[in-house]
Amino acid sequence: MLDTPRNETAYADGKILKAITEGVGVVTFNNPDKRNAMSLEMWEGLGQALTALRDDPDVRVVVLVGAGDKAFVSGADISQFEKTRHNAAASEEYSKKSDAQRALLANYPKPTIACIRGFCLGGGMQVAMLTDIRIAAEDSQFGIPAAKLGIAYGYDGLRNLVSLVGPSWARLIMYTGMRIPSAEALRIGLVDRVLPNDELWEATMEIARTISGNAPLAIKAAKITIAQVLKDPAGRDMAAIKQIGLECMDSEDFREGRRAFMEKRKPKFQGK
Ligand code: COA
Repeated sequence: MLDTPRNETAYADGKILKAITEGVGVVTFNNPDKRNAMSLEMWEGLGQALTALRDDPDVRVVVLVGAGDKAFVSGADISQFEKTRHNAAASEEYSKKSDAQRALLANYPKPTIACIRGFCLGGGMQVAMLTDIRIAAEDSQFGIPAAKLGIAYGYDGLRNLVSLVGPSWARLIMYTGMRIPSAEALRIGLVDRVLPNDELWEATMEIARTISGNAPLAIKAAKITIAQVLKDPAGRDMAAIKQIGLECMDSEDFREGRRAFMEKRKPKFQGK
């Protein structure tokens, strides 16, 4: 079990938890008996937790993690499929309910980190790929078993997969439904760092704390600009990049950063 913070707020009947520690928001997928499979209620709860952390000025970075040591998220809850996703029309309705939460994560204004231990499959991969950074434990396994279930994975999920691992690995993963271990996930660019199981949480929090101590506007500028780089040239919002660049250079924090360097002390950033 990861030593996640205890000051939690519960959503989706406790299957999604939200906590805040040292400027870091933590969202926990908390249905370990089902390997943290995502029900529609959990998607809604995820949206509520993310919204609350987005709107909390004390939170500068958000970490997503699975409860227990067996899974990050093992995908959508397949036991709901017979009722909610049994054909094209039902599937459209189902997607509408989870799309909004995925869009929230895709356009999240603060940095996000997936802390992955155990199975990260299907919808779990979708969530992990929507975060900015993926840190995994050595015993994690990754896969998108859509072809084993007979479902399509959708444009956004595949766009993220292709942009991380390239089209050829994306095809291998999708056509076979295979599971790949952390070492291979690291090699192909699906995750950014792999750590021994018992070091995962502290190492992820260390990265989160580092981000949370840095200048929020500079991080926002990087986040906005990298998101625009990934868009088709015609859809890029160059004005937004220019705007956040100007905001940074005019900010209190830039003044503080310069001063702190000259005075050989740690800067204290306020995000303005
Ligand atoms: N949806 C619903 N229930 C799930 C689930 C999912 N995605 N993943 C796991 N579970 C449930 C299992 O049905 C089982 O329930 P039970 O205890 O009532 O029998 C429980 O979680 C534990 O799973 P189990 O298969 O016994 O554990 P495991 O450690 O041997 O294997 C997985 C774990 C994740 C590899 C395996 O459960 C699995 O392949 N799940 C489906 C993954 C998938 O296809 N995801 C994509 C969905 S779009």
